Amino acid sequence: MKILVTGSKGQLGHELLIQGNNLGYAILPADLPELDITDKTQVKHWLEKFQPSLVVNAAAYTNVDKAETEHNLAFAVNRDGPANLAEACAKFEIPLIHISTDFIFDGKKRSPYIETDPVYPLSIYGKSKQEGENEVRSRLKKHIILRTAWLYGSSVLQPVRLI
Ligand SMILES: NC(=O)c1ccc[n+]([C@@H]2O[C@H](COP(=O)([O-])OP(=O)(O)OC[C@H]3O[C@@H](n4cnc5c(N)ncnc54)[C@H](OP(=O)(O)O)[C@@H]3O)[C@@H](O)[C@H]2O)c1
Repeated sequence: MKILVTGSKGQLGHELLIQGNNLGYAILPADLPELDITDKTQVKHWLEKFQPSLVVNAAAYTNVDKAETEHNLAFAVNRDGPANLAEACAKFEIPLIHISTDFIFDGKKRSPYIETDPVYPLSIYGKSKQEGENEVRSRLKKHIILRTAWLYGSSVLQPVRLI
């Protein structure tokens, strides 16, 4: 099974490459500059050329504070990028796993959030991620949106030689 992982140089993308390869999947890594998910033509070209069985979108604009002043870039990567991926996936009938965040909620609920809870992002980052979810939902039937609040990895640090 060939899996295209976008944002493959990021925290999650990097870990997905390790875990995917360990599990025996053929992982096709893609990140800037070779695949810019805000570039519709590039996205279509990659899917057409490599014909993956699945796309996992780990690419994102993740600087929560800077997003407040870099609206255009945050929305381009977190809304338009997933829209381009979902559109191309629909064209080539490829399922998409899209990663989202708890930032789509306002955090005021006193019990665990469930999928059907109303969203209310308080930041530009959260709003851009919420709109990215909407784009995926409206463009592609075969998708999964995973909302997570934390990421962790299993990569082992190399021991440091002191002498
Ligand atoms: N980290 C967390 O604690 C956390 C918590 C909840 C949810 N999430 C979600 O998990 C997902 C992955 O987060 P992460 O922490 O792994 O993010 P990350 O480390 O910032 O990685 C994102 C990757 O996407 C790349 N990228 C940025 N713009 C791109 C574009 N236009 N086209 C293609 N690639 C692009 C980045 O490249 P540059 O570095 O060059 O910009 C980076 O390599 C995101 O959807 C995020 O919202 C993360």
